[in-house]
Amino acid sequence: KMAAPMVSRAVGISSVRAFSGTPRVQNKVTVVGAAGGIGQPMSLLMKLSGKIDHLSLFDIVNTPGVAADIGHCNSKGKVMGYKGAEEMAASLDGSDVVVIPAGVPRKPGMTRDDLFNTNASIVKGIAEQCAKSCPKACFLIISNPVNSTVPIFAEVLKASGVYDPAKLMGVTTLDVARAKTFVAENQGMDVDKVEVDVIGGHAGTTIMPLLSQVKGANFTEEDIKTLTHRIQFGGDEVVKAKDGAGSATLSMAHAGAYFAEKVLDGLNGVKGIKECTFVESPLTSAPFFASPCTLGTEGVSEIHGYGQLSPFEQALVDENVPALVKMSQKGIDFVKNN
Ligand code: NAD
Ligand code: LMR
Repeated sequence: KMAAPMVSRAVGISSVRAFSGTPRVQNKVTVVGAAGGIGQPMSLLMKLSGKIDHLSLFDIVNTPGVAADIGHCNSKGKVMGYKGAEEMAASLDGSDVVVIPAGVPRKPGMTRDDLFNTNASIVKGIAEQCAKSCPKACFLIISNPVNSTVPIFAEVLKASGVYDPAKLMGVTTLDVARAKTFVAENQGMDVDKVEVDVIGGHAGTTIMPLLSQVKGANFTEEDIKTLTHRIQFGGDEVVKAKDGAGSATLSMAHAGAYFAEKVLDGLNGVKGIKECTFVESPLTSAPFFASPCTLGTEGVSEIHGYGQLSPFEQALVDENVPALVKMSQKGIDFVKNN
């Protein structure tokens, strides 16, 4: 098998060089859905990072309380809360990064796609306001089903003429976090040193960990099957254990805060940041596909190929690309028809 190609995104020189004396990045991060199960702990972790100068917390309920509470933590950065549609523009204005965990979570027995009917319109509405208030921000989409909500966001931005594919990312960091955790456990490795790429999408079998590429690991065929399945269905494991009280919130808060920080680091010129994320991608026939990406001063600066796959992984990719195409099209059609 040929390794998939490296794909570079051209970055305009003029947009990279700011006028001297004018800081290009204000380090303003807005969380949309900040009062929710993910939103609250993720906002707390972001505040504690000390990397954000202005943390803007938006939700349709409860944000004044969440902002007042988090704002008392003695770490760097101002916290502001905004509540309701009338305050949304102010919350987004000047954002460098907008992280979006708004929408309903799963209950046992549901797929992520079962959330489409509710979350598609929530995400569409948020994208419409973002297109007006902060069209140049990086948009990090957590709301499920990610395989469709990211294409929805793209279509809305396109319709407003402000779509920049380098700045729209579906957050798949939790899949990578699970992969690292389960692999380290299985192999007796140091979890801080394990690297696992997870490609594809964020739903069931579209989540495809590349275990054949994990350095220092020695898996049996049975390990590969069991670990792959556990990583693909890690979300279901949490939904089942929470027994009707929602889906992953705390691990997602950690993964979301980590990824947002990496995006912010990239915007600030830190070099060599590579993370898996779900982006518009030429790697397969699916319009959006997660793979390792370099994060730079303009968002995603390079989409890396996924390298040499084992026959097991290649079969997964072949089986799941059509599903990704379908889920993407569902999002695109939703915007066209609404
Ligand atoms: P939650 O119900 O606890 O919180 C959602 C929040 O969104 C609520 O506070 C709600 O008021 C807010 N909200 C609803 N409509 C809004 C709007 N129009 N504007 C702003 N805020 C709005 O749910 P949760 O557990 O935090 O999960 C949120 C979403 O994240 C779900 O769709 C879930 O499936 C998804 N999720 C994704 C991943 C991932 O890996 N990408 C992981 C876990 C959860
Ligand atoms: C997850 O992977 O935990 C999230 O996508 C939430 C879910 O519905 O499983």
